Amino acid sequence: MDGNGRWATRRGLPRVAGHHEGVKAARSVVRAASGLGLRYLTLYAFSTENWSRPVDEVSMLMSLLERSVNAELPELMARNARLRVLGRPHGLPAGVRRGIDHVVHETRHNTGLTVLMAFNYGARDELIDAFRSLARQVAAGELRPEDISEKKISESLYTADLPDPDLLIRTSGEMRISNFLLWQIAYTELWVTPTLWPDFGAVDLYRAVAEFQGRTRRFGKV
Ligand code: IPE
Ligand code: MG
Repeated sequence: MDGNGRWATRRGLPRVAGHHEGVKAARSVVRAASGLGLRYLTLYAFSTENWSRPVDEVSMLMSLLERSVNAELPELMARNARLRVLGRPHGLPAGVRRGIDHVVHETRHNTGLTVLMAFNYGARDELIDAFRSLARQVAAGELRPEDISEKKISESLYTADLPDPDLLIRTSGEMRISNFLLWQIAYTELWVTPTLWPDFGAVDLYRAVAEFQGRTRRFGKV
């Protein structure tokens, strides 16, 4: 969800205003994804690198994310949608963590769209956590190094029980991945749009999905 800051700056507004608009965009994309019958929607909300922003912006983002997630609880329930979080939970302020855990807990039995919020997420950290857990199993004699497979690594990630993403949508025109699901996107289709996140809506999601449906995926085969 990139481009909130630029959206605000172009209008002579503080960056905070862009983040508020970004929340609205996230809400319409969740609705549209649920309406389309998508199984999973991952929103990259806060990366491990975002901690190096000015402290005011970081604390504003933390409380905005927590408040917005809680405000969405009734609609998530109405849509039979579930919230889960990808990322390192420790390191988040306790109040923010509690607030988000509450929504995760309340929606845990819902069977429609799963919204995965990447929050305090970094793909390299995720891989480090996975390798540490595998190393611990090897050290404990529970796993042989030769049994470390793609499947074992996938199962050690935060996304253990989730399918790899089919489509990655990148807003604000940046041609980079920014430490997002590095292992999982090996064969994901990429779709980059210059649209800034606050301007991204249901129609943009439909366009991305429609283009995705027209692509031929070969997974390295012919
Ligand atoms: C939102 O966009 C992404 C978040 C970390 C919430 P940015 O804040 O990165 O916006 P730009 O890149 O400065 O335009
Ligand atoms: Mg950015």
